[in-house]
Amino acid sequence: MLILQARGLTKVYGGNHKVTTRALDNLSLDVEEGCFVGIMGPSGSGKTTLLNLLATIDRPTAGTVLVEGVETTKLIGRDLALFRRRRLGFVFQDYNLLDSLNIRENIILPLVLDRIDPEQIDRRLEEVATSLGIEDILTKYPYEVSGGQQQRVAVARAIIHRPALVLADEPTGNLDSRSAQRLMETFGRINAEAGVTIVMVTHDPFAASYCRITYFIKDGRLYNEIRRGDSRQRFFQQILDVLSQMGGGHHDTLADRP
Ligand SMILES: Nc1ncnc2c1ncn2[C@@H]1O[C@H](COP(=O)(O)OP(=O)(O)O)[C@@H](O)[C@H]1O
Ligand SMILES: [Mg+2]
Repeated sequence: MLILQARGLTKVYGGNHKVTTRALDNLSLDVEEGCFVGIMGPSGSGKTTLLNLLATIDRPTAGTVLVEGVETTKLIGRDLALFRRRRLGFVFQDYNLLDSLNIRENIILPLVLDRIDPEQIDRRLEEVATSLGIEDILTKYPYEVSGGQQQRVAVARAIIHRPALVLADEPTGNLDSRSAQRLMETFGRINAEAGVTIVMVTHDPFAASYCRITYFIKDGRLYNEIRRGDSRQRFFQQILDVLSQMGGGHHDTLADRP
């Protein structure tokens, strides 16, 4: 089943007498339920723009986005807010946790806002906290734990309400390589075991090598797509090959990491 259908997405910034930028140009993308999709491309190629359209954070100039068959590009007001809160999960580069809430309160926030029964909240919390290895830091505050831990908390918050789709923009961007590896193993595991559908934007080929399909975009259009076989190492190499073929822009970390 297709969980996400993006059709003919075009995004033009600016307008009137200002200079305009065509950040996305008639881009279409399908994502199957349970897939782990990576989106790569040079700096400025339109990755964040695409993710923001999929996330309902921004609206396309033209084109539509369907999530579970719901045309999110048509939703407004409370319907949009509810859809976003119930059916989508977000992980950002800078974690976006609330410093005034402890880790537990941060994670359960989407369920509390939805007035879910407290017993069920506790069950779900225990489940995700155990799965992400953060059960010992639940009473701490975000500023008391490491970046890697904060990002795992953000992942817990993104999946606790069992969303249709988790959207992540450069989730390893602020992490050291050890924490980045741990986060990607976590993404791989929640995808494989819990069947969480993930769309992740990254410029890091190592992070992308954990995905099952990686799409490459250039100048706002799809440039290529490759699928992972049995070997993550080989996938990593293939990703590097496509990136060097693409050229046109810098890719920060071409280190031979795995
Ligand atoms: N809010 C904005 N206003 C004007 N131009 C923007 C805005 N956001 C992004 N752009 C431009 O759109 C293009 C794509 O940007 P972006 O989606 O952020 O790329 P990426 O995430 O791949 O680096 C770039 O040329 C960028 O300068
Ligand atoms: Mg970006």
